[in-house]
Amino acid sequence: MSKVYSVPKSIAESALLNESQYSKMYQQSIDNNESFWAEQAARIDWIKPFKTIKDVSYQKDDLHIRWYEDGTLNVSENCIDRHLATRADQVAIIWEGDDPSVSKSITYRELHVEVCKFANVLKSLGVEKGDRVTLYMPMIPEAAFAMLACARIGAVHSVVFGGFSADALAGRIIDCESKLVITADYSRRGGKQIPLKNNVDAAAEKEGVKEYLQSVLVIKNTGDDVVWNESLDYWYHECIAQVEDDCPATEMGAEDPLFILYTSGSTGKPKGVLHTSGGYLVYASLTHQYVFDYHDGDIYWCTADVGWITGHSYIVYGPLANGATTLMFEGVPNYPDSSRFWQICDKHQVNICYTAPTAIRALMREGDSYVNSTSRQSLRLLGSVGEPINPEAWQWYYDVVGEQRCPIVDTWWQTETGGILISPLPGATPLKPGSASRPLFGIKPALVDGDGMELPGATEGNLVISDSWPGQMRTVYGDHQRFIDTYFSTFEGRYFTGDGARRDEDGYYWITGRVDDVLNISGHRMGTAEIESALVAHQEVAEAAVVGYPHDIKGQGIYTFVTLNAGVEGSQALEKELVQWIRKEIGPVASPDFIQFAPGLPKTRSGKIMRRILRKIAEDDFANLGDISTLAEPAVVDDLIENRKNKN
Ligand code: WT7
Repeated sequence: MSKVYSVPKSIAESALLNESQYSKMYQQSIDNNESFWAEQAARIDWIKPFKTIKDVSYQKDDLHIRWYEDGTLNVSENCIDRHLATRADQVAIIWEGDDPSVSKSITYRELHVEVCKFANVLKSLGVEKGDRVTLYMPMIPEAAFAMLACARIGAVHSVVFGGFSADALAGRIIDCESKLVITADYSRRGGKQIPLKNNVDAAAEKEGVKEYLQSVLVIKNTGDDVVWNESLDYWYHECIAQVEDDCPATEMGAEDPLFILYTSGSTGKPKGVLHTSGGYLVYASLTHQYVFDYHDGDIYWCTADVGWITGHSYIVYGPLANGATTLMFEGVPNYPDSSRFWQICDKHQVNICYTAPTAIRALMREGDSYVNSTSRQSLRLLGSVGEPINPEAWQWYYDVVGEQRCPIVDTWWQTETGGILISPLPGATPLKPGSASRPLFGIKPALVDGDGMELPGATEGNLVISDSWPGQMRTVYGDHQRFIDTYFSTFEGRYFTGDGARRDEDGYYWITGRVDDVLNISGHRMGTAEIESALVAHQEVAEAAVVGYPHDIKGQGIYTFVTLNAGVEGSQALEKELVQWIRKEIGPVASPDFIQFAPGLPKTRSGKIMRRILRKIAEDDFANLGDISTLAEPAVVDDLIENRKNKN
């Protein structure tokens, strides 16, 4: 039996929902699904009210997902303008710089002006409704302004995380045919500078990019030198000096695209996950309010980067739709030292702090003194996202950071889901360390076996969701068939998450991790196929196989088995070169932790690489390789083990 923490009394008294309210509301959301979502839609302002609520088919041959389809709205108006009557002088965004002496606050009134001006700049550069705009930005307020400015004029943003390389950026610009890239001269993280503009310049040179890219809008952030391209580049500060500070919001259909966000899968190149306007915002708003038990006046901080879905839904759209004060942090947890997160909590009197297990583990390793030197009395609630949180990290977060006063919401969701699907609610859910617990409103999770048979009761299986919710992705940008193949073909009539899970006797879900060839590195998703094809593109590499292995801080590390071309010798220099190669092809986020040169890879007689065996070897678990009788050349395995031992 695992430990259970009941809802603390102080939380129970003040929380938006208690246990019986959650149960009742959940039941209603399932029994009267459409009327539930019709009511919830009132949390945002519609220009033209919708008549149809839900039009969904999960059938392969007629797959479509539409919510509130005939309604119209503008997302930026919902996140800004509608709050002006009541909270114009309330802080919307608190920005904390990488340098601890730098921070600023932006009120809703100021946010309105900034976003309007930004939108007018976009218009002056020829951006129109439906155009795609790529953002490659530091964690500065302008990143949020840019997203909201796109939303204001109906342009579709695609934010590319700053840890991706110029090559990866180029691929994403081409895939969605962006005419504009918004970037900054440099970004700052942990006292170091990252040359964003330089990477954009390199991307702009790539084959195919020139066809679409018409301009690059550059924010002066650090002020350091950049190379200037007169035919492409525009300084943001020069452009805004010439525009009005009001910009009417464009009326958008509920199903008009809001953004594209690229994410890795088990096959092929990254997919452009497409989210639309009305349903996404309703879902982001609902989940932000209830999962974080957001009360007016709370200071809320999500430590993610806007380059990931967490930053979209829980730094920008969810909190701002709810009129919240949202904190945005430019830096990293351990700069200037490992006390930084908790110093920020004290400095800005943060009430709700939402971060990732990898950050928690890294800070835990540094010892309690960095936490204990801070007060943290403002904290009421803690959150976790990105990967299963191991019970040790959960316990430390709970005991040391939250001093056993703050519930932890372990939120399970995905880029594809738009918002949180499974999570405790602070006032309603007794906590079990390591469990994401129970489904949110309107969410029908199920566990199925390999044949798609639903497994009842306490059991373990593949996690699927049986019905749609408004925040669900609508398609893979430009490739609807891939959307169908990836998510709706494995288990007929259900959305397949790619995760495995266990459900216990109390109906709590315990996510066990990906069941496909997708790695989770520090809460960031990486497809093994993507790294493999990058490796094979290197002139000395004949074949490569990538697997994950347990890593103390990152959760999973990247282990690569590389077969070199005949006559090429593996060396430390070549290992280094291959790491550099991956950093260039994909980005620092995909840096291999281990490269093992392998004379051959274990394959079945039909030529399929047996990753199960490679995983065991990477884990140093040689005793449990399982059945290797179907291998074409069993001796390959002995070689791999021998080499693996030499690596330790
Ligand atoms: C994958 C989605 C959702 C924002 C961050 C990652 C894993 C995410 C949890 C959690 C266990 C989790 C899953 C999921 N994951 N949160 N609380 N417990 N696993 O978004 O890059 O789309 O990755 O992250 O494996 O499928 P993403």
